[in-house]
Amino acid sequence: MKNAQVSTAWKKALLDNYGAPSISLVKGKGSEVFDVEGKKYLDLLGGIATNILGHAHPAIVKAVTRQVGTLGHVSNFYAHPNVIELAQKLAAMTGDKNARVFFAQSGAEANEAAMKLSRRTGKYRIVAAQGAFHGRTMGALSMTGQPSKREPFLPLVKGIKHVPYGDIKAMRRAISNKTAMVILEPIMGEAGVIVPPVDYLAQVRELCTQKGALLVIDAVQTGMARTGDWFGYEYSGITPDVITLAKGLGGGLPLGAMIALGDAAQLFVAGDHGSTFGGNPITTAAALAVIKVIEKDKIMIKVRKDQEFIMQRIALIEGVSEVRGAGLLLGIQLDKPIASKITLQMREEGILVNAANDSTIRIAPALNISRLQLNKFCTIFEKVMSHDN
Ligand SMILES: Cc1ncc(COP(=O)(O)O)c(C=O)c1O
Repeated sequence: MKNAQVSTAWKKALLDNYGAPSISLVKGKGSEVFDVEGKKYLDLLGGIATNILGHAHPAIVKAVTRQVGTLGHVSNFYAHPNVIELAQKLAAMTGDKNARVFFAQSGAEANEAAMKLSRRTGKYRIVAAQGAFHGRTMGALSMTGQPSKREPFLPLVKGIKHVPYGDIKAMRRAISNKTAMVILEPIMGEAGVIVPPVDYLAQVRELCTQKGALLVIDAVQTGMARTGDWFGYEYSGITPDVITLAKGLGGGLPLGAMIALGDAAQLFVAGDHGSTFGGNPITTAAALAVIKVIEKDKIMIKVRKDQEFIMQRIALIEGVSEVRGAGLLLGIQLDKPIASKITLQMREEGILVNAANDSTIRIAPALNISRLQLNKFCTIFEKVMSHDN
């Protein structure tokens, strides 16, 4: 089988919402993946910040294999030890002893849950950021601040205002006593790895408290040690009311979560929300394995050192104007709008990265990627950037 044949088969079998991928991956180990033609790639995208421990990590394989061979699914009519242990662990990570958790399968669903939770304040208005990405379901899309994704599907949920990200004056104008929630990514991922001013989240926190609005932190892309902390907002010192997670949480298995803190943890009552697969024993087994490895291997310390290493190497390369982000979620700002071209050239060289926009290359590799592999990425990136593009 050739990549081109798979691409043709995809076009016939799948709806055209993604466009057909031109390569087909069939195998992976750690940060290496292989396509259907046997070509090896170093994976610096990690399934879009999702394969947090790389491919086929032995701890995840073991936990999932054991669980699927014991009890695969129970529904929320019944309890299962994994779901309770995982909820306890996530709640403990927030440092709030009243925190409680709802499980879903994806980031969009976690944000939908947050949206519904905020309706239980008796209010419905929401403030979100221009450029933000919160998912593609109708509620999550309504909060997503990207017109090209929203406009074909209007009308969306009403009462949602989008303000420039990082602009506290605009936030102050938008938020009122009628605001149910404010939703923000601590670093905007899909928008091109945008980092807000350092005191922005703390100022938004203060405004939310004054106006009685929930502060929802969408840590779907920035959570699970990706930035060197459990949740991407921790650099700001705030305590949010709600945290949403997905991507890295399941280590490659579909798992999303909404953690509600403080009084927000009391807002849902029985019957308010649900999901057949939510908190499934297999996906929660994977997440428990992920957390154990991150703790045992001191991955958060490694991730911070990796950030320093990459930033120092890449910032010196001609054609790069800035490297921004935190931990292993980094955006490389190019002088010219050639990010797609560079992404293709990197792929030719056996490295998978992503063009977050015309002039930003995003990397979000497995957090356990080796220094040798990161060095290889930097060397090849430098080579590709020296091409006459
Ligand atoms: C910050 C953020 N929120 C929500 C989502 C949506 O997650 P999902 O694709 O799992 O629905 C994404 C996906 O990229 C994301 O980056």
